[in-house]
Amino acid sequence: MLDKIHNLREEIASLSATDAAEAEALRIKYLGKKGAVTALVADFRSVPAESKREIGQALNELKTYATQHIAELREAAEQASLTSNNIDIFRSAAPVPLGSRHPLSIVSEEIISIFTRLGFTVAEGPEIEDDWHVFSSLNFAADHPARDMQDTFFINREPDVLLRTHTSSVQTRVMEHTQPPIRIICPGRVYRNEAISARAHCFFHQVEALYVDKNVSFADLRQTLLYFAREMFGPDTEIRLRPSYFPFTEPSAEMDISCNLCGGKGCSFCKHTGWVEILGCGMVDPNVLRSCGIDPEVYSGFALGMGIERITNLKYQVKDLRMFSENDRRFLNEFQAAH
Ligand code: DAH
Repeated sequence: MLDKIHNLREEIASLSATDAAEAEALRIKYLGKKGAVTALVADFRSVPAESKREIGQALNELKTYATQHIAELREAAEQASLTSNNIDIFRSAAPVPLGSRHPLSIVSEEIISIFTRLGFTVAEGPEIEDDWHVFSSLNFAADHPARDMQDTFFINREPDVLLRTHTSSVQTRVMEHTQPPIRIICPGRVYRNEAISARAHCFFHQVEALYVDKNVSFADLRQTLLYFAREMFGPDTEIRLRPSYFPFTEPSAEMDISCNLCGGKGCSFCKHTGWVEILGCGMVDPNVLRSCGIDPEVYSGFALGMGIERITNLKYQVKDLRMFSENDRRFLNEFQAAH
């Protein structure tokens, strides 16, 4: 019996398999129900009692060896067939190109971070809006041209459902259910019915800021704007406020910053004025506070709104607005190091 075990072990040691099927056939031949190893194990019954211990041990070893060896043959055959099919499973994977954040996100987050340092918190509102939040609550006269189909994308008329044309609608959304103090910054996408060109798009992005509390003055607005401009464009930046008109602020102003390309000396970018316009602002009109349930006798506030594309253009000189929404990786990758 010991000889038989020994011979079978030698036989198994000399086996080879060129593929997985061959290895499986060997497994059946030696370890299957009618296999050679299995048959020897069955003979164990007839072994005399005094040899059972020694032979039992040898049989166990043979079985373990056969199982392991045939499994190894199978594995080796599988590996060999993979490489011989010209698939190199050990080759390192092709590098995945690294993405970068969109320039508008970079700039939007920078604006948010500046206002956050002043105690503002982010508020958001829906892009699909109604007339009340976009126009009526913000003191737009019934015949204001912005309400025209030429400027506004209407989804439905009566009741009016439309795409917001500015993020000022978030002011109303917040003031409707919050009493002052309110200090919010509202980034988001807005839509206007414009022909798409290098200088205009039918959607773009804005950031709105609103501060309402007791005794908020125009001086607070001016100082906030100066802080923002210097944080965003550098400590030497100067600001200039020009009187303007918006239905929802009184008085209203537009803010220019000293041209950050020529340092205010005058260049083609600032049309040789030394100044570039970056945002609209003003003291919240008492009618707006009233329509949102805030008492204008007790509270006052300022608001400001700016286009993120415009700020991004100033920082990175992107000449064509369409680049922002084309998702051309060559363009986007230029901002990989910008944050
Ligand atoms: N909503 C204005 C626009 O889309 C921007 C703006 C101007 C927002 C003055 C304001 C503001 O909050 O006070 O052009």
